[in-house]
Order: sequence, then structure tokens, then C-alpha cells
Amino acid sequence: MHLVSTPERIEKKADAIQRRYEEESLMLDKDQEEFKVIEEVFDRLTLEGVYKLIRKKVIDRIYGVIKSGKEARVYWGQDPKGVELAIKIYYTSTSDFRRGMIKYIKGDRRFKRVSKSPRSIIYTWTQKEYKNLQLVEEAGVNAPRPIAFHRNILVMTFIGEDGIPAPLLREVDPIDPDDFYIKLLNDMRLLFTKSKLVHGDLSEYNVMVWEDVPVIFDVSQALLSTHPLAESLLQRDIANVNTYFKRLGVEVFDASKMELWIKGESENLS
Ligand SMILES: Nc1ncnc2c1ncn2[C@@H]1O[C@H](COP(=O)(O)OP(=O)(O)O)[C@@H](O)[C@H]1O
Ligand SMILES: [Mg+2]
Repeated sequence: MHLVSTPERIEKKADAIQRRYEEESLMLDKDQEEFKVIEEVFDRLTLEGVYKLIRKKVIDRIYGVIKSGKEARVYWGQDPKGVELAIKIYYTSTSDFRRGMIKYIKGDRRFKRVSKSPRSIIYTWTQKEYKNLQLVEEAGVNAPRPIAFHRNILVMTFIGEDGIPAPLLREVDPIDPDDFYIKLLNDMRLLFTKSKLVHGDLSEYNVMVWEDVPVIFDVSQALLSTHPLAESLLQRDIANVNTYFKRLGVEVFDASKMELWIKGESENLS
């Protein structure tokens, strides 16, 4: 198992936890399989976190990796009833994106006291994605539903079927691009007016196509609409969406009119 270099204190605690769950895992043979899938990449505290979610019956099995990104790996799993899950586990060992994370966490009134330790930044980031998914769900935007989070592990509903994730917008052209574009704009408006969020990384890479409707996901960086960066990120989201749909031959709306409409400050798009 690969270990990240952590301060001695954390190492010691991790050792104790490791010993404890090594003893426990002798009794819980089945869970060993789940660990094999993740133990090459993740450290002991992460494994212990996954173990806890298994004990709490949030997760029953973890199968393969859906995707390894720069910041996280997404696994396909199942709950005890056989319902498919997407389990996103943030790396705790890479540091280059942490600076970026702090920028987004700062200015978010939900996270006033954020410890500067690398690990807690990642844990806060995971919690932020979970809370954002909750807000998105409450607003009725089509997105994965949050199920649980613990440390750097986020469990959500799986979009797709039988372990095959729904294709990304960049991978399939919607059957009716005009209709899909409008649906996506409606979601952006709901996101802003109801969730009070700006996605901040919206593009064809973070929208899935499932049953001909958009599913917005990857909301870890989404910001409250009151955040100082929110406006410029909303403008970037609008620009990304328009560029993509223009390529599909859609007659896109004027970006500034769209911005007002998404913010709920106007009733007309054209
Ligand atoms: N809830 C989900 N259901 C199915 N597939 C998912 C889900 N969440 C993420 N994925 C898949 O994992 C990939 C990476 O997820 P994402 O949240 O975009 O992470 P990142 O962009 O930070 O690597 C996505 O492109 C998608 O294919
Ligand atoms: Mg993504």
C-alpha cells in the first residue's frame, strides 16, 4: 500500500487505526475484496473511511474505477440493496490543486473556520461537494443525489446502468440539441435562483446525457451566488455552454441576456 508522507502525529494515529481494523477485518472477510480495489492508491485513513461507510451499510461493494482524474477517483459500487452507487474519493497526496481549492472555500460563508492542514482542506472540499449536491437536489435540478460523505469520500447515486456511466455531453450529441440546450439553461436558472449556486466549471465535460436530458454533476467547485468569484464564473459557464451548442448548430442566446435571465433578473431570453 502506498503511503503519503504525513506528519508523525497523523502517522501514529493511522497506525493505531490500521491495527484496529486489521483485527476487525479478520472477522469481516468479505470486505477485503472492496479494499483490494482501492488500496493501491489510497492511504490508510481513506481505507478506514471507506470501511466505516461499509460498516454503516452505506456501501456494500466497490467494483472498478469509473474514472481517475487529477483530483479524485470515481468508483462504481453498490449499496446493500444492490442499488448502484458512484463513490468519489479525493486524493490526499497531491497538492497542486489545493491552492485552487482554498480560493473557492475562502469567501464561502458555510466554511468560516477552515484548517490549513492539507488533509482538512480535502475533507472540507468533499463536504462542500456534498452540500452543493444537497442544494442542487432541493432545487430540483437533475443531478446525482448525495447519499453520504466521510473524510475524502463522497457517495452519490450512479447515473448510468450496470456499471456503465451515462455518456458525457462531449461524447454524444443530444438527439434534439435545441431542446437539450433549453433544458440545460433552465437547470442553470434553477441552480442560480433556487440553489443560489453558480456551477463554476460547467462545460460538456460536466454534463451527462441520460434519457435525453442533461444531468449536471461535478459540483465541488460550485460557489454560492454571493461569492466574489460567482459572477465571473457564471459568465464563463455561459460562454462554455454557448460555444458548445453553437458547434452543434444551435442558435444560441446573447450571453448578457442569458446572464440576467439565469439570475432571475429578467423573464425574457431573447
Ligand atoms: N454520479 C455519477 N454517476 C456516474 N458516473 C459518474 C458520476 N460522477 C462522476 N462520474 C464519472 O466520473 C467522471 C469524473 O467525475 P467528476 O466528478 O467530473 O470528477 P473530476 O472531473 O474531478 O475528475 C465523470 O466524467 C463521469 O464519467
Ligand atoms: Mg469533472
